[in-house]
Amino acid sequence: MYRFQKPTLSRRAFLASAGVGAAGLMLPPPLWRPARAASAKEFHLRAARGLTRLAPEPYGETPTWCYNGRVPGPELRVRQGERLRVVVENGLDEETTVHWHGVRLPNAMDGVPHLTQRPIGVGETFTYEFDAIDAGTFWYHPHQRSFEQVGRGLYGPLIVEEPEPVRVDRDVTWILDDWRLTKSAAISDDFGNGHDMSHNGRVGNTVTVNGHVPDIFAVQQGERIRLRLINAANARIFGLDIQGHKPMVVALDGQPVAPHAPDSGLVVLGPAMRADVVLDMAGKPGSRASVIDRFYQGLEYRLIDLAYGAAPLRDRAPDWPLALPANPLPEPDLRNARRHEVVFNGGMMGGMVMAEMGGSMGDGSSGGMMGGRGMTGGMGSMMGMMHSGKIWFINGVAAEGHVMDPMLTLERGRPYVLAMTNATAWHHPIHLHGHSFRVVSRNGQPTRHREWQDTVLMAPRERVEIAFVADNPGDWMFHCHILEHQAAGMMGVIRVT
Ligand code: C2O
Ligand code: CU
Repeated sequence: MYRFQKPTLSRRAFLASAGVGAAGLMLPPPLWRPARAASAKEFHLRAARGLTRLAPEPYGETPTWCYNGRVPGPELRVRQGERLRVVVENGLDEETTVHWHGVRLPNAMDGVPHLTQRPIGVGETFTYEFDAIDAGTFWYHPHQRSFEQVGRGLYGPLIVEEPEPVRVDRDVTWILDDWRLTKSAAISDDFGNGHDMSHNGRVGNTVTVNGHVPDIFAVQQGERIRLRLINAANARIFGLDIQGHKPMVVALDGQPVAPHAPDSGLVVLGPAMRADVVLDMAGKPGSRASVIDRFYQGLEYRLIDLAYGAAPLRDRAPDWPLALPANPLPEPDLRNARRHEVVFNGGMMGGMVMAEMGGSMGDGSSGGMMGGRGMTGGMGSMMGMMHSGKIWFINGVAAEGHVMDPMLTLERGRPYVLAMTNATAWHHPIHLHGHSFRVVSRNGQPTRHREWQDTVLMAPRERVEIAFVADNPGDWMFHCHILEHQAAGMMGVIRVT
């Protein structure tokens, strides 16, 4: 019993977004090399239906949507400073795009339908091309109807290696996902239902690592592993307890962080988030240690067992250094930063949170059931809003599709602080495209590591401040990465000019 629980790159668009020719003194140097593309590492991705063995025998294979016939899609690996060219072919029955999550790239390569490109039509191809300026653990997925396309299996890892990676015995990627399967191991068709949209999203009953329900992971005593964890789930948050081991977090969302043991001992990953963890295999030959997911209280389960082989690799942990070299991120100067308030509200039970928080957050809404602007009409209007798909709001506005007026317009090259308030009863992993930001405070307390992230998990009622230099011109999505929340309005556009 297992737990159920072509157009190619338009040169003109690229040059425009790269700021080439705009040699104003105030502007920082362009992030990108010109689009000449002498040499690039080329990859092909074909999105199409396929079959994947998610669940073990005696279950059958699961009909999924795949890149190159598999879930996850192939691991794309390049060296920092290399250029990627990825030819994407759409073999699905509907439009798609590919977004390079966490990668700082030119706006025209960001893969947002209608906003940064025309969606890739059925049978069409599109070529993405960009420089890998940051080393780290990234991933790719469609930005078109993500809640279903990602939910059916379209995603894969993108690994950018440091020129001189930290020394380890093995570099391993675990891309975690969560599926809602029927008794015959088919994907349940209820994508986008009202309950998932208005509560905590599509949480499933089956968790996979690299596309199958895992059992054991073979290790050796004394071995040092760099474990790259990626959460590709629509909505599930993971809190991994690696029993009997002392994981050291060395990078978050691809960006190096001072090596540290995770707070509370759990490696916490909201949807879309990544953690690079260095694990010294401290167990005895022949022993086992479980990795338990403890994020949801009362719903703990064993994810996988580390299974030690008979022969040790070495008798003690190596003393090799852990710290990764920094990426070329511009440091935001907080004294000169401009500040913007951002309030997230809506969802079921939002009104209670609004009342508790004084009902004064952000747009001055008086806290109806949904907590959004003008929604004081109780149950009737709540059902009306839910029916229209507007359930979640950023500063009082619910997105309908990717094209909208920017919620903020930022000046290129300037530092900004976004002071964000989660005025809802739910967690939200908030993602900004095209930039990494420092998480500088939580509930008024400075963070210990001032970590760089591209997706920050906000707990219910939490206030989080993030800071970054708006150095990448274009229209960038800013949204919750619980894909049902994104689809139900929790999304905006931040323009950098
Ligand atoms: Cu990983 Cu806008 O997304
Ligand atoms: Cu959310």
